[in-house]
Amino acid sequence: MALDAAAKKTLLRKIPHGLFICGVAEGEEVNGFTASWVTQGSFEPPLVVIAVRADSTSNGMIQRTGRFSLNVLDQGQKDLAAVFFKPQQGIGGRFDAAPYQRGELGLPILSDGLGAVECELVGQVAAGDHTVFVAEVKTAVLLRDGLGLDLASTGWAYGG
Ligand SMILES: Cc1cc2nc3c(=O)[nH]c(=O)nc-3n(C[C@H](O)[C@H](O)[C@H](O)COP(=O)(O)O)c2cc1C
Repeated sequence: MALDAAAKKTLLRKIPHGLFICGVAEGEEVNGFTASWVTQGSFEPPLVVIAVRADSTSNGMIQRTGRFSLNVLDQGQKDLAAVFFKPQQGIGGRFDAAPYQRGELGLPILSDGLGAVECELVGQVAAGDHTVFVAEVKTAVLLRDGLGLDLASTGWAYGG
């Protein structure tokens, strides 16, 4: 049975996604990257699921620390999302464009976002070019109300 690669790409790109900034911290070092492959995985306990590129800086930091934050952007923050997927001047350099504070678990929480959750790993699957992490939401900070930024509105594609 051969996979129809064009059909697979077209169909997978129809999965709706939000756009988030995933934050990581290891000692004094922080890093963050734009993530779209994010979803909720359980009500109780509250779980989230994120797929993180196996070769990214942040993947190793999540593996070593067992933690990450998810920052929710508002619809007007496409430019900020762009900052967080572009190459940076050293680890954490993207935060020069975005003020943040550390949350209760020490993870970066963007001051200008809608808010963030901090999560602790409960499991992972490393079978492809991304690692699928499952994590429990341990803290939640709501900074303001608004509509979340979604991938479709940006005209960008990540998937297929
Ligand atoms: C629209 C868009 C969505 C993205 N979604 C993800 C994602 O869900 N997971 C991921 O690991 N990388 C995703 N990326 C790529 C990362 O943002 C990018 O690889 C980043 O440079 C990784 O940073 P790091 O190496 O500092 O950790 C996405 C990029 C774009 C443009």
